[in-house]
Amino acid sequence: MLLREAVYYDAAGLKRLASEGEPYKAGGDSTMSEAVRTMLQTNAEAVQEAAALADAGFLWDFWYPAVRSAEIRGQKLVTAMLLEVPLVIGRTSEGKAFAMRDSCPHRGIPLSYGRLDGTVVECCYHGWRFDACSGRCVEIPSLTSQDKLKVERIFAGHFPCEECDGYVWVYMSGPGTQLPETVPAAPALNVFSDKYKIIHLSCELPSHVDHGIIGLMDPAHGPFVHQSWFWRKRASIHEKAKQFEPIPNGFRMSPHQPSANSAPYRLLAKMTGETVTTAIDFVLPNLRTEIDRSGKLWFSSRATVTPVRRDLCRIDFVAAWNLPIPVAVFRPFAKKFLRQDQLTMIQQAEGLKYNPRLMLIDDADRQAKWYFALKANLLESRRTGAAMVHPMNGPVTLHWRS
Ligand code: FES
Ligand SMILES: [Fe+2]
Repeated sequence: MLLREAVYYDAAGLKRLASEGEPYKAGGDSTMSEAVRTMLQTNAEAVQEAAALADAGFLWDFWYPAVRSAEIRGQKLVTAMLLEVPLVIGRTSEGKAFAMRDSCPHRGIPLSYGRLDGTVVECCYHGWRFDACSGRCVEIPSLTSQDKLKVERIFAGHFPCEECDGYVWVYMSGPGTQLPETVPAAPALNVFSDKYKIIHLSCELPSHVDHGIIGLMDPAHGPFVHQSWFWRKRASIHEKAKQFEPIPNGFRMSPHQPSANSAPYRLLAKMTGETVTTAIDFVLPNLRTEIDRSGKLWFSSRATVTPVRRDLCRIDFVAAWNLPIPVAVFRPFAKKFLRQDQLTMIQQAEGLKYNPRLMLIDDADRQAKWYFALKANLLESRRTGAAMVHPMNGPVTLHWRS
């Protein structure tokens, strides 16, 4: 008898049960003890799962936003998925956010069905208890005084977790990789005064994260997808030249005067009577930040595209500003903008189902090319241990019409 059904991924990345396709034969040897068989099976699953995850085109060992901070309150356990890893997230009685793999190391039942008791998560099945901040097992209720099992050597899957800008960020360390000695800090939004307004928006896209990201940095879709009275008119398309420079793990659209045909920028210039400058950065794995400044006024935003599964990603958009614009006025505009992108991605996903051949053209898609090159070069440098080669050798001016 198999102690639990084996799970594997087929070529299409779908999770299937062993009974549907015979991925391995851990139960073939009748002399093998049940415990050994289970261990082998678990190892085989881990190897297969790691291989499947490695293929999904995710970038491990980075911070990703999992849920909004406001969602974790009291003793509530919240679930999330990042990079196809199911997570259970909560807050200890001291207020510290934590993220564990939503799977009990005993028999795999989601820990989120259990309960949080101060600093300990208790599994609903046999009551094993785990320290929420380290994942370390602290109690197995079925053990007697005769048992020699070292409870403290058992760990539930556990990930570094930080709160920043109203999000719970989880550092997704890759399967089988060691955490660095010091995990870098989670990314923080740039703000330039003590008082400011802030909004958070998010939407899901039925696409692989790569499509979400190249959609985010695509200058040519603006006049078509975001056509509206307050932003761009199709007739206003004109030729642009933008300077880009390499930055660590990414590239920067060098500070410049934004396009004169955008109403918000005209507004900003009118308010201060000074020039407006804009700087836009893209940094691996998924961050696009934009800073607009004019005199004392500023507007700062960040969009991240986070892989949930290989066929689903989520845009989290946060913006802060000290301009005299109420949240209630800005929010509907931002929402509409995001909704326009979301609709386009839903339509694109319809076409992508049939694996069409795709094109990236110069110069409008050059940023997408840099993204793919940055990603490939990062993975290569991690594989070889050599320094990462940046795909840009220096500043470049790109030309396109938008
Ligand atoms: S499955 Fe969690 S304690 Fe047994
Ligand atoms: Fe867009």
